[in-house]
Amino acid sequence: LHACCHNPTGFDLGHADWQRVLDVVRSRKLLPLIDFAYQGFGDGLEQDAWAVRLFAAELPEVLITSSCSKNFGLYRDRTGALIVCTQDAEKLLDVRSQLAHIARNLWSTPPDHGAAVVATILGDPELKSLWADEVEAMRLRIAQLRAGLVEALQPHGLAERFAHIGVQRGMFSYTGLSPAQVQELRDHHSVYMVSSGRANVA
Ligand SMILES: Cc1ncc(COP(=O)(O)O)c(C=O)c1O
Repeated sequence: LHACCHNPTGFDLGHADWQRVLDVVRSRKLLPLIDFAYQGFGDGLEQDAWAVRLFAAELPEVLITSSCSKNFGLYRDRTGALIVCTQDAEKLLDVRSQLAHIARNLWSTPPDHGAAVVATILGDPELKSLWADEVEAMRLRIAQLRAGLVEALQPHGLAERFAHIGVQRGMFSYTGLSPAQVQELRDHHSVYMVSSGRANVA
């Protein structure tokens, strides 16, 4: 499950939708993994955590993968966290030793500089507030670009056709353009997106 800014569609679930997903997860006794890669780029740092907090509060076990690649601009430093929530503290010790075993096999000594940067920022109220302001500026910029694109298409009678881009969240949208149209944009207008029509609107 993507907590916010669904990649690649750009469509997020509303609160009522999340409640329904929660009901399904609970009734089928599923273990949810919430992929949280765009915190702060949807409706805000706190708001984007809404479903994550709901699941953590309501379910006995939840896995959350939180990434700092985008919201700290640390894409190449592999910085993030796996957060394991469980109501049973004893179980957590078992989970921890299993995860340590997997980690040991995968990377043994992980890169630390990105994590140290994030720890420094989050551990200092002034830096944290500066960072939150910058994430908010990026969030507003993406929203502005989305709205601006829809507005610019208006005189061409295309605002309705592409209205979804204005209401979606995060960096990506499906434009619905065909591979031939994508090629045309690439060859003649220097506008680039993947052939499926998925565009990075940021
Ligand atoms: C939903 C989602 N999760 C995770 C990632 C990758 O996160 P990381 O760079 O921390 O591996 C991406 C994109 O890069 C993504 O879109």
